[in-house]
Amino acid sequence: MTFFEVTPETDDAVKVLDVKHWTDKLFSFSVERPTSFRFRSGEFIMLGLLDTLGKPLLRAYSVASPSWDERLSFYSIKVPDGPLTSRLQNIQVNDYIIMRKKPVGTLVLDALIPGKRIYMIATGTGIAPFASLVRDPELYDKYKQVMLIHTCRDKAELAFGKDLVDITKKDPLIGEFAIESLVYLPTTTRESSDVIGRATDLIRSGKLFSLLSVSPFSAEKDRVMICGSLAMNTDMKKICEEFGFVEGANSQPGHYVVEKAFVG
Ligand code: A2P
Repeated sequence: MTFFEVTPETDDAVKVLDVKHWTDKLFSFSVERPTSFRFRSGEFIMLGLLDTLGKPLLRAYSVASPSWDERLSFYSIKVPDGPLTSRLQNIQVNDYIIMRKKPVGTLVLDALIPGKRIYMIATGTGIAPFASLVRDPELYDKYKQVMLIHTCRDKAELAFGKDLVDITKKDPLIGEFAIESLVYLPTTTRESSDVIGRATDLIRSGKLFSLLSVSPFSAEKDRVMICGSLAMNTDMKKICEEFGFVEGANSQPGHYVVEKAFVG
């Protein structure tokens, strides 16, 4: 099969600046940021390649870099038979891909009513939007404490998040705030590690709160952002509702927000 190549002349073409393979199933990459492109931390855009007919084949990707950065980064799963990711995983520096400049999404600070502590609960590549949010100075203006909880199958899949937290704490702009306020809790479900179990189960059992030395969810003080597989999102939504939280949206802020981690 012959696929059309994205060239600098293709509509909405952006140049690839770096590619990093984390595991055989996960990779991240950055592209040049178009000068006019603005987004809110936590939003996603459509990006992709051309198909065999020369038509754009696009999927939703959360921006995984801070809004002040000159590069735009993304974190992706490699689906062996996925129409897009089976090819996107082969991109190289200086290649071009398509990126539509229309950011959208509900995983934004504007969709939450003010609170004291914010939980970011992710599975797998669902950590991508939080990679933008935890480097946003506004987050630390709005919340005293930020709990980043990431559940993956094994330790290798946690590497992106671990690196993110290291980079964030060393960052000249927000490092100081992150050191003071950002708490990172990685968990694994299929390999032994410091914390074993799904975030959802750890919340239900109360273990998560004792590990973090905090009291259980309170609608008065706590806010929750959820991003992962459909199953995790559904379970987390239920938990949030049980604690009396109301789902927020851009038009009507609430106690918690949810976004699907996209696979393509
Ligand atoms: P588990 O290994 O128990 O299925 P995946 O690689 O399938 O996308 O899953 C990523 C992580 O999300 C895994 O650790 C997986 O745990 C976890 N997970 C899957 N479903 C749920 C769920 N409903 N609630 C919480 N975590 C989940």
